[in-house]
Amino acid sequence: MRLAPSILAADFAALGSAVEGISAVADLLHVDVMDGHFVPNITIGPPVISSLRKHTDLYLDCHLMISEPAAYLPAFKAAGANGCSVHVEVGHTAELIGQMRDLGMDVGLAVNPDTPFEAFADHLDQVDLLLLMTVFPGFGGQAFMPEVLPKIRQAADEIDRRGLSVTIQVDGGVDERTVKDVAAAGATVFVAGSAVFGASDPVAAGRRIRDAAIEAGASRS
Ligand code: DX5
Ligand code: ZN
Repeated sequence: MRLAPSILAADFAALGSAVEGISAVADLLHVDVMDGHFVPNITIGPPVISSLRKHTDLYLDCHLMISEPAAYLPAFKAAGANGCSVHVEVGHTAELIGQMRDLGMDVGLAVNPDTPFEAFADHLDQVDLLLLMTVFPGFGGQAFMPEVLPKIRQAADEIDRRGLSVTIQVDGGVDERTVKDVAAAGATVFVAGSAVFGASDPVAAGRRIRDAAIEAGASRS
């Protein structure tokens, strides 16, 4: 399993030290990019990713909650993103996957809580990462939506059945309690924002989430 702390819950005025502080327990750094259009919030873009790149060797996992990813993917690559996830709800999925491949980045496909399995199943053989949202994107600190668990199981079963090597990442309301169900359902990469950076000791909080996931049997890769 891998833990992906989301910097959305960190102090944006002290990102360098937040990232340095969490690196002992982070396998990836989850970077939430919001455009005020696809979601009702605005966060950060390529300039901040470029600054982060100078401060850390961690894998930069960029979650693009934006309506026009095609226009910005080259800038994310140039800034140092290792992988990007685009939302299936923005459309043009096959073209966006091709563009990310051509840019030489890892390819992720993100899915909102109310978007059905059928909307992404045909793309599973073209992606490295499937990001299943367990909150509606836009804000950190929301409550985990357990009704997404069957879709996580369904995706994990389908990936196994077709012998694909797609990693399932879950994002939204993940903490040391909810991660157990998520891990048992078949996810192996866990995004956690407020449960990590909102804790008085973020590294210890990250370790508790990791231990809970392992205990629940996160074993797929
Ligand atoms: C929500 C973001 C998440 C967010 C998760 O739109 O995609 O990555 O940071 O935050 P928590 O872990 O607090 O739900
Ligand atoms: Zn995210």
